[in-house]
Amino acid sequence: MRMRKKKHGSERLSALSALLCRDAAALRTDPRAVFGRTAPVRLEIGCGKGDFICALSEREPEYDYVAMEKVDDVLVAAMEKYASRRGLGRLGVHGGWDAPDGTNYVGGAVWQIPLSLRGNVRFLSGDAKELGEWFAPGTLDGIYANFSDPWTKKGYEDRRLTAPGFLTLYARLLRPGGFFRFKTDNAALFAYSLETVAASPLTLTFHTEDLHASERAAENVMTEYERNFTEKGVKIRALEAYRPL
Ligand SMILES: C[S@@+](CC[C@H](N)C(=O)[O-])C[C@H]1O[C@@H](n2cnc3c(N)ncnc32)[C@H](O)[C@@H]1O
Repeated sequence: MRMRKKKHGSERLSALSALLCRDAAALRTDPRAVFGRTAPVRLEIGCGKGDFICALSEREPEYDYVAMEKVDDVLVAAMEKYASRRGLGRLGVHGGWDAPDGTNYVGGAVWQIPLSLRGNVRFLSGDAKELGEWFAPGTLDGIYANFSDPWTKKGYEDRRLTAPGFLTLYARLLRPGGFFRFKTDNAALFAYSLETVAASPLTLTFHTEDLHASERAAENVMTEYERNFTEKGVKIRALEAYRPL
């Protein structure tokens, strides 16, 4: 996702950093302490500006979610969207973050948002290749990857989020019966992903070349990219696979 550098991006990230996962050991060993409750944890890789995770976490509040993104200027947009949708304030007119009590967190100040107000999403600044540092084997209930980069240049296939190495990693981190769901506009990446999933430890249970015309249309949660592609008439492909029980 291309994005202009955000003005005061790191300060804006600091203001809401209570929503960030910073301690890999804490998330690995005790996700209950991170979320303040016991619930199945689902992960979105490459959350972009957060439309999907905001809508999904409201629609399915019985789950906890980690939204991972490798570009901080994009991540901060997702965090601000989530915070404002949860009634946790808004961007200050003159910069910083305005909390509901009127305090303006600016210049790197951190709002220690009470755990009870943080809701069921935490954000993670990082690359999917580091997932094994953040999650213990067999602990994730589900993994979503939406409209990830196709990495078409020769020699870069390993970076695709459906490359064999990533699928093996997901299978290790998912609980038995946990799912991997993938959506893309890209026909070539989808064909590639059907092959890699078939050869992976995951079991393919569903796939469609036209998600919005499929039986999954009603339950589908749109992402930013999905909305753009759909407006242009591009069909959305989707697949679902499970870690066998
Ligand atoms: C094409 S955008 C799609 C954003 C969003 N998922 C959507 O569907 O609207 C892909 C996003 O994934 C992020 N991303 C790509 N590879 C990643 C990786 N290996 N780890 C974490 N984030 C990644 C990019 O920075 C970008 O924001």
